[in-house]
Amino acid sequence: MVDIDAGPWGRRGAALESVATDADGLPLTLADFRSVFSQVLSESTLAYYEGGGADELTLAENVNSWQRMNLWPRVLRGIDSVDTSCEFLGRRMPHPFIVAPTAFHGLADPDAEIATARGALDAGAIYTLSTLAHTGPVELAAAVPDARRWFQLYVLRDRALTRAIVEEAVASGFEAIVITVDLPPAGRREREMRTGFTLGGDLVVPSIAAAGTTEPITMFDLPNLFDATLSWSDIEQIVRWSDLPVIVKGVLHPRDALAAAEHGAAGVVVSNHGGRQLDSVPSGAAALAGVVDAVHGRVSVLVDGGIRRGTDAIKARALGADAVLVGRPILYGLAAAGSPGVSAVLKILVAELENGLALVGERRFDEVTASVLNPEA
Ligand SMILES: Cc1cc2nc3c(=O)[nH]c(=O)nc-3n(C[C@H](O)[C@H](O)[C@H](O)COP(=O)(O)O)c2cc1C
Repeated sequence: MVDIDAGPWGRRGAALESVATDADGLPLTLADFRSVFSQVLSESTLAYYEGGGADELTLAENVNSWQRMNLWPRVLRGIDSVDTSCEFLGRRMPHPFIVAPTAFHGLADPDAEIATARGALDAGAIYTLSTLAHTGPVELAAAVPDARRWFQLYVLRDRALTRAIVEEAVASGFEAIVITVDLPPAGRREREMRTGFTLGGDLVVPSIAAAGTTEPITMFDLPNLFDATLSWSDIEQIVRWSDLPVIVKGVLHPRDALAAAEHGAAGVVVSNHGGRQLDSVPSGAAALAGVVDAVHGRVSVLVDGGIRRGTDAIKARALGADAVLVGRPILYGLAAAGSPGVSAVLKILVAELENGLALVGERRFDEVTASVLNPEA
């Protein structure tokens, strides 16, 4: 059941009463979770979690791109059960929803990333821990040892520290390193600028503390911490640091996806960082087909940005993605109801995917092809 009394999260009770809930007292849809989330958090935390770059054109386009696509159902295919499982990086997963790396979960729940990882585990999803988490990789692994987990890396200016963080993740059972390449600098997020959002303060971010920064910082200070000189030769070097697969996150251009494959990556995430970086770049949905074409099966292709319905995963699969990452909706679940909220958000997406597969006439998620988007394909 939902812990409605914890700290500033005491507002959860009243907010949950404002939406329709299930037998466990949890919202029924992702939109309802978002409504609760927006009632419980402060204005500046909301600006940070929800905001995008500049005019937020890409932020809106991320959701709109999936919504614009029609699904073309086939009927009378005798489908009485569906299989949502899928394979990427050589492993089978029960469904294609992966928890995207997002920073600072301590702003949404007192148990921070530990709550998120528990929710992901309960829903059978991989959890990607951000470098900018309030929980370090060793602490997370100790608290939720059974969670399937990937580690998202921002390469710090201090390479020795970066390597030490990666080694901690490797030693504590993380299964992949996700290197995010579309930051620094941070995008011009005007909502954050208006509310004066700062990172840090009372909640310690272990990686930032280890880098020697103790004062609260804004997104504009990140270039002081992160290495903007990163290039493909660094990716090759990081690939050699461990036996874990390396996934390059934040690729839109087909040539960059190909470069990732050529420099030793095992996968790419087609992503614009949730519309938070350069405004006017294409959505993941729009960039996906070009990337799939360019890499031609050499690496796993994942996509994120604007996934808000289980049926969006069918559309992504039809365009060639192996799986999808989900960012903000996980924060909606976390802020609204902690770990059970995260689990519920993921389970709603899986239920929508199951329903969508049955109604579109596809027995297996894995076997969805371009013809569900285009009858002539
Ligand atoms: C509040 C917030 C924090 C984020 N922090 C990180 C991060 O630390 N590392 C990273 O690689 N991506 C980060 N992202 C980007 C997400 O991993 C993901 O690409 C994006 O949220 C997907 O879009 P969606 O929110 O529409 O699902 C963040 C996104 C949000 C909304």
